Amino acid sequence: MKTILIFVSSLDGKVTKWGLSNVRLWTSHQDQDYYKNVLNESRLVVMGSNTFNADTFKPSANHLFIIMTRHPDKYKSLEVPGQIEFTNESPVALTARFKSKGYKQMVVVGGPHVATSFLKEQLIDELWLTLEPKIFGTGGNFVTGVKLDISLHLIHFEKVNKQGTLITKYAVLKNKAM
Ligand SMILES: NC(=O)c1ccc[n+]([C@@H]2O[C@H](COP(=O)([O-])OP(=O)(O)OC[C@H]3O[C@@H](n4cnc5c(N)ncnc54)[C@H](OP(=O)(O)O)[C@@H]3O)[C@@H](O)[C@H]2O)c1
Repeated sequence: MKTILIFVSSLDGKVTKWGLSNVRLWTSHQDQDYYKNVLNESRLVVMGSNTFNADTFKPSANHLFIIMTRHPDKYKSLEVPGQIEFTNESPVALTARFKSKGYKQMVVVGGPHVATSFLKEQLIDELWLTLEPKIFGTGGNFVTGVKLDISLHLIHFEKVNKQGTLITKYAVLKNKAM
C-alpha cells in the first residue's frame, strides 16, 4: 500500500496563515480544484481530529474517512460505518490494518500533528506538496518541532497558474529513524 501525505504550503513552509484554520482563504483555485480531485479519487483518507473539525467532510459511499483521535467516543454521533470512522489506533496499527485489508493507497491529509506522527514512524511513501507563492511569517509548519532526517526525490512538478503555484510530488528516499 502506498501512503501519501498531501499539503498546501506557503513558500516559508506555513500550512496555516498566521495560525488561522481556513486554508481556502489563501490557497489558489487551482490548488483547491486539485485537492478536490485527489479527494474524489481517494478511497481511503486519513486525518487528525483538528483537521476534521476545521473543514466539512460529507459521508459518501465512495470514501472511507478515518479520523484519528484519542477520544473516539466523543464523535460517536458523527460516525457512519464504512464512510466516516474515528479511531485511537497508532499510525503503525492503522497502516497495518488497511494494508492487510488489501488497500492500494492511503492519503493522509494532515494536519501537522498527524503528519509528524506518520513521518516519525517512517510510514510515508510520497509527499504531494502544493507551494503557493506567499510568505506568512507565522503559522503552523506541516511538520511540528521534532528531529527528522528524511531525504526525498522530486517525481513530478507542474506550474498551474500565472502567479506560479507549483504542484509537486516527492518520493521518500530515506527516512532515518531518530
Ligand atoms: N495547508 C494544509 O494543507 C493543511 C492540511 C491539513 C490541515 N491543515 C490545518 O492544520 C490545522 C490542524 O492541524 P493540527 O496539527 O493542529 O491537527 P491534526 O493533525 O489535524 O490533529 C491533531 C489531533 O489529532 C488527534 N490525534 C490522534 N492520534 C494522533 C496521532 N497519532 N498523532 C497526532 N494527533 C493525533 C489529537 O487530538 P484528540 O486526540 O484530542 O482528538 C491531536 O490533537 C488546521 O488549522 C487545518 O486547517 C492545513
